[in-house]
Amino acid sequence: MNIAVIEGDGTGPEVIAEAKKVMEAACESSSEGRLEFFHYDLGGARYLKTGELLPESVLQELKEYDAILLGAIGHPDVKPGILEKGILLAIRFGLDQYINLRPVKLYPGVYCPLKDKGPDDIDFIIIRENTGGIYTGHGGVTHKGEPDEVATQEMIYTRPMVDRCLEFAFSLKEDRNKENPACSQKPLHLVHKTNVLTNCGDLWNRAFETMGADLYPSVWRVYAHVDATTMWMIKNPEWFDVIVTENLFGDIITDLGAMIQGGMGIAAGGNINPGGISMFEPIGGSAPKYAGQNIINPLAAICAGAMLLRYSGAEVDTEAADRIEAAVKKALGEGYIRSLAAGQMGMSTSEVGDLVSKFV
Ligand code: IPM
Ligand code: MN
Repeated sequence: MNIAVIEGDGTGPEVIAEAKKVMEAACESSSEGRLEFFHYDLGGARYLKTGELLPESVLQELKEYDAILLGAIGHPDVKPGILEKGILLAIRFGLDQYINLRPVKLYPGVYCPLKDKGPDDIDFIIIRENTGGIYTGHGGVTHKGEPDEVATQEMIYTRPMVDRCLEFAFSLKEDRNKENPACSQKPLHLVHKTNVLTNCGDLWNRAFETMGADLYPSVWRVYAHVDATTMWMIKNPEWFDVIVTENLFGDIITDLGAMIQGGMGIAAGGNINPGGISMFEPIGGSAPKYAGQNIINPLAAICAGAMLLRYSGAEVDTEAADRIEAAVKKALGEGYIRSLAAGQMGMSTSEVGDLVSKFV
Protein backbone atom coordinates (compact mmCIF):
# COMPACT_ATOMS: atom_id res chain seq x y z
CA MET A 1 0.00 0.00 0.00
CA ASN A 2 1.35 3.43 -0.92
CA ILE A 3 0.41 6.02 1.67
CA ALA A 4 0.92 9.76 1.34
CA VAL A 5 1.79 11.28 4.70
CA ILE A 6 1.18 14.89 5.66
CA GLU A 7 2.62 15.35 9.12
CA GLY A 8 1.67 19.01 9.15
CA ASP A 9 2.11 21.36 12.07
CA GLY A 10 2.72 21.31 15.82
CA THR A 11 2.50 17.84 17.29
CA GLY A 12 1.54 16.35 13.87
CA PRO A 13 5.00 14.88 13.14
CA GLU A 14 5.28 13.27 16.60
CA VAL A 15 1.92 11.52 16.49
CA ILE A 16 2.36 10.45 12.87
CA ALA A 17 5.70 8.81 13.71
CA GLU A 18 3.90 6.60 16.25
CA ALA A 19 0.99 5.85 13.91
CA LYS A 20 3.44 4.67 11.23
CA LYS A 21 5.34 2.57 13.76
CA VAL A 22 2.17 0.81 14.90
CA MET A 23 0.80 0.34 11.37
CA GLU A 24 4.08 -1.24 10.28
CA ALA A 25 4.08 -3.55 13.28
CA ALA A 26 0.48 -4.55 12.56
CA CYS A 27 1.21 -5.31 8.91
CA GLU A 28 4.50 -7.14 9.48
CA SER A 29 2.91 -10.56 9.67
CA SER A 30 0.62 -10.05 6.70
CA SER A 31 1.70 -10.74 3.16
CA GLU A 32 -0.70 -8.22 1.61
CA GLY A 33 -0.03 -5.45 4.02
CA ARG A 34 3.34 -4.04 2.93
CA LEU A 35 3.22 -0.30 3.58
CA GLU A 36 5.22 2.45 1.93
CA PHE A 37 5.03 6.01 3.20
CA PHE A 38 5.71 9.10 1.08
CA HIS A 39 6.05 12.40 2.89
CA TYR A 40 4.59 15.72 1.79
CA ASP A 41 5.65 18.96 3.39
CA LEU A 42 2.41 20.91 3.78
CA GLY A 43 1.31 23.12 6.64
CA GLY A 44 1.89 26.38 8.41
CA ALA A 45 5.69 26.28 8.32
CA ARG A 46 5.77 25.86 4.54
CA TYR A 47 3.14 28.56 4.10
CA LEU A 48 5.11 31.04 6.21
CA LYS A 49 8.28 30.27 4.28
CA THR A 50 6.97 30.12 0.70
CA GLY A 51 3.35 31.33 0.73
CA GLU A 52 2.23 27.97 -0.66
CA LEU A 53 -0.76 26.10 0.75
CA LEU A 54 -1.71 23.11 -1.40
CA PRO A 55 -0.07 23.40 -4.82
CA GLU A 56 -2.27 22.02 -7.61
CA SER A 57 0.51 19.60 -8.58
CA VAL A 58 0.50 18.13 -5.06
CA LEU A 59 -3.27 17.68 -5.13
CA GLN A 60 -2.89 15.82 -8.44
CA GLU A 61 -0.10 13.64 -7.01
CA LEU A 62 -2.18 12.75 -3.97
CA LYS A 63 -4.65 11.08 -6.33
CA GLU A 64 -2.03 8.44 -7.14
CA TYR A 65 -1.84 7.00 -3.61
CA ASP A 66 -3.94 4.36 -1.91
CA ALA A 67 -4.66 6.65 1.03
CA ILE A 68 -3.46 9.73 2.91
CA LEU A 69 -2.48 9.96 6.56
CA LEU A 70 -2.66 13.46 8.03
CA GLY A 71 -1.22 14.70 11.33
CA ALA A 72 -2.51 18.19 12.04
CA ILE A 73 -2.93 21.51 10.26
CA GLY A 74 -2.82 24.77 12.23
CA HIS A 75 -0.09 27.27 13.13
CA PRO A 76 -0.20 30.00 15.81
CA ASP A 77 1.40 32.56 13.46
CA VAL A 78 -1.15 32.09 10.69
CA LYS A 79 -4.55 33.76 10.80
CA PRO A 80 -7.43 31.30 11.39
CA GLY A 81 -9.05 30.02 8.23
CA ILE A 82 -6.09 30.20 5.86
CA LEU A 83 -4.53 26.79 6.50
CA GLU A 84 -7.85 25.15 7.32
CA LYS A 85 -9.44 26.24 4.05
CA GLY A 86 -6.27 26.22 1.97
CA ILE A 87 -5.03 22.76 2.94
CA LEU A 88 -7.44 20.62 4.96
CA LEU A 89 -10.69 21.61 3.27
CA ALA A 90 -8.91 21.93 -0.08
CA ILE A 91 -7.95 18.24 0.12
CA ARG A 92 -11.37 17.13 1.37
CA PHE A 93 -13.09 19.02 -1.46
CA GLY A 94 -10.41 18.46 -4.10
CA LEU A 95 -10.49 14.69 -3.63
CA ASP A 96 -14.28 14.68 -3.15
CA GLN A 97 -14.02 13.02 0.26
CA TYR A 98 -17.73 13.43 0.86
CA ILE A 99 -17.94 11.24 3.96
CA ASN A 100 -16.39 12.14 7.29
CA LEU A 101 -16.54 9.01 9.39
CA ARG A 102 -15.99 9.50 13.12
CA PRO A 103 -16.34 6.59 15.53
CA VAL A 104 -17.32 7.44 19.10
CA LYS A 105 -16.07 4.51 21.11
CA LEU A 106 -15.20 4.52 24.78
CA TYR A 107 -12.40 2.06 25.47
CA PRO A 108 -12.18 0.24 28.81
CA GLY A 109 -9.93 2.00 31.29
CA VAL A 110 -10.60 5.44 29.82
CA TYR A 111 -12.01 8.24 31.96
CA CYS A 112 -15.46 9.24 30.73
CA PRO A 113 -16.96 12.50 31.97
CA LEU A 114 -20.46 10.98 31.95
CA LYS A 115 -21.47 9.52 35.27
CA ASP A 116 -22.42 5.84 35.21
CA LYS A 117 -21.65 5.36 31.52
CA GLY A 118 -19.14 2.77 30.34
CA PRO A 119 -17.79 1.14 27.17
CA ASP A 120 -21.07 -0.73 26.62
CA ASP A 121 -22.97 2.56 26.52
CA ILE A 122 -20.70 4.54 24.23
CA ASP A 123 -20.01 2.76 20.96
CA PHE A 124 -21.44 4.46 17.92
CA ILE A 125 -20.32 6.10 14.72
CA ILE A 126 -21.11 9.46 13.19
CA ILE A 127 -21.25 10.00 9.44
CA ARG A 128 -20.77 13.67 8.74
CA GLU A 129 -21.42 14.85 5.18
CA ASN A 130 -18.06 16.40 4.33
CA THR A 131 -18.20 18.53 1.19
CA GLY A 132 -21.45 20.46 1.30
CA GLY A 133 -23.58 22.68 3.48
CA ILE A 134 -22.19 25.86 4.93
CA TYR A 135 -18.65 24.71 4.15
CA THR A 136 -19.00 25.33 0.41
CA GLY A 137 -18.26 29.04 0.81
CA HIS A 138 -21.41 30.28 -0.90
CA GLY A 139 -22.44 33.68 0.34
CA GLY A 140 -20.75 37.00 0.65
CA VAL A 141 -20.28 40.30 2.38
CA THR A 142 -21.42 43.77 1.41
CA HIS A 143 -20.92 47.11 3.20
CA LYS A 144 -17.91 45.57 4.95
CA GLY A 145 -16.86 47.55 7.98
CA GLU A 146 -19.87 49.85 7.73
CA PRO A 147 -22.58 50.00 10.37
CA ASP A 148 -25.03 48.14 8.15
CA GLU A 149 -22.64 45.40 7.04
CA VAL A 150 -24.33 42.32 5.57
CA ALA A 151 -22.86 38.82 5.64
CA THR A 152 -24.36 35.56 4.39
CA GLN A 153 -23.12 31.98 4.41
CA GLU A 154 -25.43 29.57 2.69
CA MET A 155 -26.22 25.95 3.37
CA ILE A 156 -25.90 24.22 0.00
CA TYR A 157 -27.20 20.72 -0.71
CA THR A 158 -28.33 18.97 -3.85
CA ARG A 159 -30.33 15.75 -3.87
CA PRO A 160 -27.38 13.74 -5.27
CA MET A 161 -25.09 15.07 -2.51
CA VAL A 162 -27.59 14.01 0.11
CA ASP A 163 -28.33 10.67 -1.52
CA ARG A 164 -24.69 9.57 -1.81
CA CYS A 165 -24.12 10.34 1.86
CA LEU A 166 -27.28 8.52 2.93
CA GLU A 167 -26.34 5.57 0.75
CA PHE A 168 -23.06 5.23 2.67
CA ALA A 169 -24.93 5.52 5.98
CA PHE A 170 -27.60 2.92 5.20
CA SER A 171 -25.05 0.51 3.87
CA LEU A 172 -22.76 0.90 6.91
CA LYS A 173 -25.74 0.47 9.22
CA GLU A 174 -26.78 -2.68 7.39
CA ASP A 175 -23.25 -4.10 7.82
CA ARG A 176 -23.19 -3.26 11.52
CA ASN A 177 -26.59 -4.88 12.04
CA LYS A 178 -25.31 -8.05 10.36
CA GLU A 179 -22.09 -8.15 12.38
CA ASN A 180 -23.56 -7.36 15.77
CA PRO A 181 -27.10 -8.24 16.94
CA ALA A 182 -26.95 -5.41 19.51
CA CYS A 183 -26.67 -2.90 16.65
CA SER A 184 -29.82 -4.18 14.98
CA GLN A 185 -31.75 -3.21 18.11
CA LYS A 186 -30.85 0.41 17.41
CA PRO A 187 -31.88 2.74 14.59
CA LEU A 188 -30.02 4.74 12.00
CA HIS A 189 -30.47 8.33 13.17
CA LEU A 190 -30.76 11.20 10.74
CA VAL A 191 -29.81 14.39 12.59
CA HIS A 192 -30.87 17.83 11.32
CA LYS A 193 -33.00 20.79 12.32
CA THR A 194 -36.14 20.31 10.25
CA ASN A 195 -38.22 22.51 12.55
CA VAL A 196 -36.29 25.59 11.39
CA LEU A 197 -34.24 24.59 8.33
CA THR A 198 -37.35 23.74 6.40
CA ASN A 199 -35.59 23.70 3.02
CA CYS A 200 -32.42 21.71 3.64
CA GLY A 201 -33.84 19.72 6.55
CA ASP A 202 -36.82 18.67 4.46
CA LEU A 203 -34.56 17.63 1.59
CA TRP A 204 -32.50 15.41 3.90
CA ASN A 205 -35.57 14.00 5.63
CA ARG A 206 -37.45 13.12 2.43
CA ALA A 207 -34.34 11.58 0.89
CA PHE A 208 -33.80 9.56 4.09
CA GLU A 209 -37.38 8.27 4.18
CA THR A 210 -37.46 7.45 0.47
CA MET A 211 -34.12 5.65 0.36
CA GLY A 212 -34.88 3.77 3.56
CA ALA A 213 -38.32 2.59 2.44
CA ASP A 214 -37.23 1.70 -1.11
CA LEU A 215 -33.77 0.22 -0.65
CA TYR A 216 -33.16 -0.56 3.04
CA PRO A 217 -36.55 -1.57 4.49
CA SER A 218 -34.88 -3.68 7.18
CA VAL A 219 -33.02 -0.67 8.66
CA TRP A 220 -34.92 1.08 11.44
CA ARG A 221 -34.98 4.85 10.77
CA VAL A 222 -35.29 7.60 13.36
CA TYR A 223 -35.06 11.34 12.82
CA ALA A 224 -33.66 13.58 15.62
CA HIS A 225 -33.15 17.33 15.87
CA VAL A 226 -29.52 18.32 16.36
CA ASP A 227 -30.12 20.24 19.60
CA ALA A 228 -31.93 17.27 21.12
CA THR A 229 -29.13 15.01 19.87
CA THR A 230 -26.54 16.89 21.95
CA MET A 231 -28.76 16.30 24.96
CA TRP A 232 -29.17 12.57 24.30
CA MET A 233 -25.48 12.06 23.55
CA ILE A 234 -24.89 13.11 27.16
CA LYS A 235 -27.96 11.60 28.78
CA ASN A 236 -28.44 8.38 26.81
CA PRO A 237 -25.46 7.75 24.52
CA GLU A 238 -26.44 4.05 24.46
CA TRP A 239 -29.37 4.95 22.18
CA PHE A 240 -27.03 5.59 19.28
CA ASP A 241 -25.43 3.21 16.82
CA VAL A 242 -25.10 5.16 13.55
CA ILE A 243 -25.85 8.86 13.11
CA VAL A 244 -25.86 10.53 9.70
CA THR A 245 -25.92 14.31 9.46
CA GLU A 246 -24.98 17.33 7.37
CA ASN A 247 -21.58 19.01 7.52
CA LEU A 248 -21.74 21.70 10.22
CA PHE A 249 -23.97 19.74 12.59
CA GLY A 250 -21.57 16.84 12.15
CA ASP A 251 -18.59 19.04 12.95
CA ILE A 252 -20.21 20.12 16.20
CA ILE A 253 -21.56 16.81 17.44
CA THR A 254 -18.32 14.96 16.67
CA ASP A 255 -16.41 17.20 19.09
CA LEU A 256 -19.01 16.33 21.69
CA GLY A 257 -18.59 12.69 20.72
CA ALA A 258 -14.82 12.98 21.15
CA MET A 259 -15.29 14.24 24.71
CA ILE A 260 -17.53 11.38 25.81
CA GLN A 261 -15.09 8.82 24.39
CA GLY A 262 -12.28 10.27 26.48
CA GLY A 263 -11.15 13.37 24.60
CA MET A 264 -9.18 14.48 21.58
CA GLY A 265 -6.35 12.17 22.61
CA ILE A 266 -8.27 9.19 21.23
CA ALA A 267 -10.64 10.63 18.60
CA ALA A 268 -9.90 9.68 14.99
CA GLY A 269 -11.71 10.22 11.74
CA GLY A 270 -11.67 9.37 8.07
CA ASN A 271 -12.40 11.71 5.17
CA ILE A 272 -13.68 9.13 2.75
CA ASN A 273 -14.30 9.07 -0.97
CA PRO A 274 -15.75 5.57 -1.41
CA GLY A 275 -14.63 5.52 -5.05
CA GLY A 276 -11.42 7.48 -4.67
CA ILE A 277 -8.65 8.50 -2.31
CA SER A 278 -9.44 8.88 1.38
CA MET A 279 -7.58 10.74 4.13
CA PHE A 280 -7.37 9.73 7.77
CA GLU A 281 -6.55 12.01 10.68
CA PRO A 282 -6.68 12.50 14.42
CA ILE A 283 -9.56 14.94 15.01
CA GLY A 284 -7.60 17.13 17.43
CA GLY A 285 -5.52 20.08 16.31
CA SER A 286 -1.80 20.78 16.15
CA ALA A 287 -1.51 21.55 19.90
CA PRO A 288 1.52 23.87 19.45
CA LYS A 289 2.12 24.24 23.19
CA TYR A 290 2.92 20.53 23.46
CA ALA A 291 4.97 20.28 20.26
CA GLY A 292 8.46 18.78 20.40
CA GLN A 293 8.20 17.56 23.99
CA ASN A 294 7.33 13.91 23.40
CA ILE A 295 4.31 14.22 25.71
CA ILE A 296 1.37 14.40 23.29
CA ASN A 297 -0.97 11.41 23.15
CA PRO A 298 -0.50 9.57 19.81
CA LEU A 299 -3.50 7.23 20.23
CA ALA A 300 -5.83 9.29 18.02
CA ALA A 301 -3.27 9.16 15.20
CA ILE A 302 -2.75 5.43 15.83
CA CYS A 303 -6.53 4.89 15.64
CA ALA A 304 -6.58 6.97 12.43
CA GLY A 305 -3.97 4.53 11.08
CA ALA A 306 -6.27 1.62 11.96
CA MET A 307 -9.16 3.38 10.20
CA LEU A 308 -6.94 3.86 7.14
CA LEU A 309 -6.29 0.13 6.97
CA ARG A 310 -10.00 -0.60 7.40
CA TYR A 311 -11.65 2.02 5.21
CA SER A 312 -9.20 3.13 2.49
CA GLY A 313 -10.79 0.73 0.05
CA ALA A 314 -7.36 -0.55 -1.03
CA GLU A 315 -6.71 -4.27 -1.20
CA VAL A 316 -5.43 -4.57 2.30
CA ASP A 317 -5.69 -6.96 5.18
CA THR A 318 -8.30 -5.38 7.48
CA GLU A 319 -7.19 -7.78 10.21
CA ALA A 320 -4.27 -5.41 10.70
CA ALA A 321 -6.84 -2.79 11.69
CA ASP A 322 -8.43 -5.26 14.12
CA ARG A 323 -5.00 -5.94 15.64
CA ILE A 324 -4.32 -2.24 16.18
CA GLU A 325 -7.69 -1.68 17.80
CA ALA A 326 -7.23 -4.70 20.06
CA ALA A 327 -3.77 -3.46 21.04
CA VAL A 328 -5.09 0.02 21.91
CA LYS A 329 -7.83 -1.62 23.94
CA LYS A 330 -5.29 -3.72 25.81
CA ALA A 331 -2.93 -0.79 26.48
CA LEU A 332 -5.80 1.23 27.93
CA GLY A 333 -7.86 -1.51 29.54
CA GLU A 334 -4.94 -3.00 31.45
CA GLY A 335 -3.97 0.38 32.83
CA TYR A 336 -0.61 0.86 31.10
CA ILE A 337 -1.60 4.35 30.00
CA ARG A 338 -2.66 6.40 33.00
CA SER A 339 -4.59 9.20 31.30
CA LEU A 340 -5.30 10.32 27.76
CA ALA A 341 -4.24 13.91 28.47
CA ALA A 342 -0.95 15.24 27.10
CA GLY A 343 1.78 15.04 29.73
CA GLN A 344 -0.30 12.83 32.00
CA MET A 345 -0.07 9.49 30.26
CA GLY A 346 2.60 8.15 32.63
CA MET A 347 4.79 7.60 29.57
CA SER A 348 6.07 9.53 26.58
CA THR A 349 4.56 9.78 23.11
CA SER A 350 7.08 7.32 21.69
CA GLU A 351 6.66 4.90 24.60
CA VAL A 352 2.92 4.75 23.89
CA GLY A 353 3.74 3.91 20.26
CA ASP A 354 6.23 1.22 21.35
CA LEU A 355 3.72 -0.30 23.76
CA VAL A 356 0.89 -0.48 21.23
CA SER A 357 3.32 -1.89 18.62
CA LYS A 358 4.30 -4.61 21.05
CA PHE A 359 0.66 -5.58 21.57
CA VAL A 360 -0.41 -5.76 17.90
C1 IPM B 1 -12.68 19.22 11.89
C2 IPM B 1 -12.18 20.63 12.03
C3 IPM B 1 -12.26 21.31 10.67
C4 IPM B 1 -13.72 21.32 10.24
C5 IPM B 1 -11.66 22.70 10.62
C6 IPM B 1 -10.25 22.74 11.12
C7 IPM B 1 -11.76 23.32 9.24
O1 IPM B 1 -12.89 21.32 12.98
O2 IPM B 1 -12.05 18.44 11.16
O3 IPM B 1 -13.69 18.88 12.52
O4 IPM B 1 -14.47 22.23 10.59
O5 IPM B 1 -14.10 20.39 9.54
MN1 MN C 1 -14.30 20.10 14.04
